This record gives sequence, structure tokens and C-alpha cells, in this order.
Amino acid sequence: MLNARTVGTACLALVMMVGTGSSLLMAQAGKKKAAAKAAGPVPTAAEIESAEEIYKTKCAVCHTMDGNSPIPNMNFSDGEWRHGSTVKDVMSTISNGVQGTAMMPFKTSFSEGEIAALARKVRSFDPKLK
Ligand code: HEC
Repeated sequence: MLNARTVGTACLALVMMVGTGSSLLMAQAGKKKAAAKAAGPVPTAAEIESAEEIYKTKCAVCHTMDGNSPIPNMNFSDGEWRHGSTVKDVMSTISNGVQGTAMMPFKTSFSEGEIAALARKVRSFDPKLK
């Protein structure tokens, strides 16, 4: 019954199972990584606080305090994101601005964490986004 051959086959089957399991785990980890990338860095409490102040003093003039600007391109609550809606996309818009418009690049003005917090803040005006 338990000759070398059956043991060998069982071992091979076990190795294959473990192999499949770990590649599944790796695929899942990959997906999580991609999701984390789209979600961007997680800002600290201090960065969130700073972003609130920045929004009030540097963004609200154009985008209004409630993000519901009457000018569609400047509106954050109508569900339309012309330059992408993930945290990463919005961070990139805030960092690089939109060439040829009044939306200037802010990457040299604020830290990455503040930009991440700003991206989360402007996205929060859109009830369709989580
Ligand atoms: C001088 C006016 C002005 C200021 C100040 C300003 N923006 Fe903008 N912003 C614009 C305009 C105009 C657009 C639309 C660009 C276009 O036509 O695509 C825009 C677009 C955006 C978008 C893209 C929205 C989309 O649909 O994808 C984001 C995000 C954004 N602004 C964030 C900010 C943040 C955050 C600040 C403050 C740090 C800020 N803006 C300050 C004028 C401004």
C-alpha cells in the first residue's frame, strides 16, 4: 500500500496544492496592492487637518466651500470626474494641474500626504463615490 510510488505521488500532489495555494495568495496580494495604489497613501490626522485649512484658503475660491460649483468643470459633487475619480487620479490632477485652465499644479506647494488628504476631501463631495 504505502510503497515509494504512492508516497511520491502524494508528495507531488501536496506540492502542487501548496503551489496553487500560494499563487492564489500571491494573486490576492497583487490585487490588494493594486487597490491600495488606487486608494493612494493614507494621510495622517495632521495632514487631514492641514488639508481642511488649505481647501478653505486655496481651493474654495474657485471650487466653493461645498464643492458644488455652478461651473461644471469645477464641480466636485455632480459625479463627473474629467481627470479620473480614484484617489490616485485626483491626487495627480491636484499635483499636476490641468494645463490650459485655471487649475494650476500644487505639487510644490503641499506635501504628498496633504495632497492625498485634499484628494479624499474633494472626492467626499461626490455622494456617488465611496
Ligand atoms: C483659480 C481657480 C482654481 C483654484 C484656486 C483651484 N482650482 Fe481646481 N480646478 C479649476 C478649474 C478651472 C478646473 C477644471 C479644469 C478642466 O477644465 O478640466 C479644476 C479642476 C480640478 C479638479 C479636477 C476635477 C475633475 O473633474 O476631474 C480637481 C481634483 C481640483 N481642481 C482640485 C483642486 C484643489 C484641491 C485645489 C486647491 C488646492 C484647487 N483645485 C484649486 C480651478 C481652480
